Amino acid sequence: MAKIGIVYYSMYGETFELARAIAEGVTKGGGEAHLRRVPDPLLPDEVKESDGVKQAIEAQAEIPVATVDELPEFDGLIIGSPTRFGSATSQLQAFLDQTGPLWSEGKLLGKAAGFFTGAATIHGGHETTIMSMATFAMHQGMPIVPAGYAVAGDVQGTRSGGGPYGPTQLGTGEGLTDEERNIALDYGAHFAGIAEKLAA
Ligand SMILES: Cc1cc2nc3c(=O)[nH]c(=O)nc-3n(C[C@H](O)[C@H](O)[C@H](O)COP(=O)(O)O)c2cc1C
Repeated sequence: MAKIGIVYYSMYGETFELARAIAEGVTKGGGEAHLRRVPDPLLPDEVKESDGVKQAIEAQAEIPVATVDELPEFDGLIIGSPTRFGSATSQLQAFLDQTGPLWSEGKLLGKAAGFFTGAATIHGGHETTIMSMATFAMHQGMPIVPAGYAVAGDVQGTRSGGGPYGPTQLGTGEGLTDEERNIALDYGAHFAGIAEKLAA
């Protein structure tokens, strides 16, 4: 059984919701899903107490914090961040930037990698954010598992989130659409299968 780390940052909880659907998919696909949240130690108290952020912090309280040392224990990593100005958040990037020691020792080499995001507008940068995170996998030597169009969730017909680059959500504040959820579920299951083959 492939052990999959789903490492994400989420400020308002929407990326977290997508991460949970992917985790469910990983489990359906016979993998072992481990959600890990990237914290934001610099978030000012007034922001932590603000509407939306407070609820998101509470909802994620039980999710273990991501650590660099744990990453090599996973057979594959699915990494997610909200879109900020068309790119990944500094919080997620700061976490990835701490993986230099793993990079220098090739500790993630050959493990499967996948990416997910969310953005509030339909042309607001889903693809660019995934591409910005994907260089991490290239430098670590991790084969990237995209969704493609063949994952069973309706990638081709979706009018909300989810695309060939990976699962995504359109941040409407109303939760995942059925399409977004189905793509995330199918992607998680697909990823678990590939990660297991790579780890064999
Ligand atoms: C500082 C900032 C920058 C953002 N930049 C973009 C952007 O470039 N394109 C976009 O469509 N949405 C943008 N958004 C919206 C978020 O990507 C979107 O609301 C996302 O779903 C939030 O995810 P979260 O709930 O996991 O924090 C931005 C939000 C913030 C706070």
